[in-house]
Amino acid sequence: MPYPVTLLPGDGIGPEVAAAAVRAVNATGVAIEWDEVELSGAVIERTRQSAPDAVLESMERTRVGLKGPVTTPIGGGFQSVNVALRKKLELFANVRPVRSLPGIRTRFQDVKIDLIIFRENTEDLYSGLEHEVVTDVVTSLKVITRAASIRIAKYAFAFARANGRKKLTAVHKANIMKLGDGLFLKCAREVAAEYPDVEYKELIVDNASMQLVMRPETFDLLLLPNLYGDIVSDLAAGLVGGLGLVPGANMGEKYAVFEAVHGSAPDIAGKGVANPTALMESAVLMLRHLGERGAADRLQGAIERVYADGKTVTPDIGGTATTSEFTDAVIAGL
Ligand code: NAI
Repeated sequence: MPYPVTLLPGDGIGPEVAAAAVRAVNATGVAIEWDEVELSGAVIERTRQSAPDAVLESMERTRVGLKGPVTTPIGGGFQSVNVALRKKLELFANVRPVRSLPGIRTRFQDVKIDLIIFRENTEDLYSGLEHEVVTDVVTSLKVITRAASIRIAKYAFAFARANGRKKLTAVHKANIMKLGDGLFLKCAREVAAEYPDVEYKELIVDNASMQLVMRPETFDLLLLPNLYGDIVSDLAAGLVGGLGLVPGANMGEKYAVFEAVHGSAPDIAGKGVANPTALMESAVLMLRHLGERGAADRLQGAIERVYADGKTVTPDIGGTATTSEFTDAVIAGL
């Protein structure tokens, strides 16, 4: 029986990298029944739904999604589709592994970076609760709850134990947001007490950012509220070669949606040069989730060999290959 998977190519570079990821997954031989559903700014405008019914209906059936990025209007317009989906499907854990790949020239090429970001995915300043109190005075509500903070902390610690990871750093600004970030930290400490086998540390987010740039190899797992998790993810992507490389998984109790950290990259959309690695690696996470570990390892290995060889990489990595040439090389390596 093929695995049913909802495919949301998205917009911008989304359809280009999604096509590449689908080709790579199909080439592993794992049978997937892709249920492709359009999800873009145009669809949202038309349906007036940030999480359109067609997407939710498909996810209800498949429980698993592979998603490209979707453009979100800035400073107005519809609510972020990503935020809407994460809330509707209760995808509370955003898991983002950031690893050095072979053969990539970065400022940090001499150190081995292997960290995983656990970002709370449903609340914080993404509550969307903004209010103009009087003209030119706006408040944005940062919502932190015990339930969501405990849930993400448990997810991260359980992952650490199940995967033999040694250290977890909670990142916060509880020196200023004593109540909100204070509660997040309190919950992290409570859960940490149940996991004496995982070393627990805390860092204030500004210091954490500096330490990540100075000593990225000393980090293992990071646990963050939503906004810091968003920002630190891109910072961490920059350490290993950029947004073209870093995958992600949005995990909930019932559903899982796999997507890259990067956005729709309008500056390169339609040019055929987007790096599909991040979505391919997201598909590797998806294959693991489906229980197809062998295929996941083979796809991972094929991607790494293309980088180690270094001849067929995309312009963001300093090469000249197109999206499809890179994909052909990965598939040849499979
Ligand atoms: P972005 O991640 O789209 O692009 C930032 C920079 O990284 C650009 O220079 C882009 O060319 C480059 N880049 C990103 N992915 C790449 C890839 N696969 N290969 C090569 N280069 C790549 O961030 P930006 O420009 O801030 O956001 C653009 C739009 O994407 C916005 O509307 C934003 O809201 C949306 N977005 C959507 C996300 C999602 O659907 N999950 C996540 C982040 C942003």
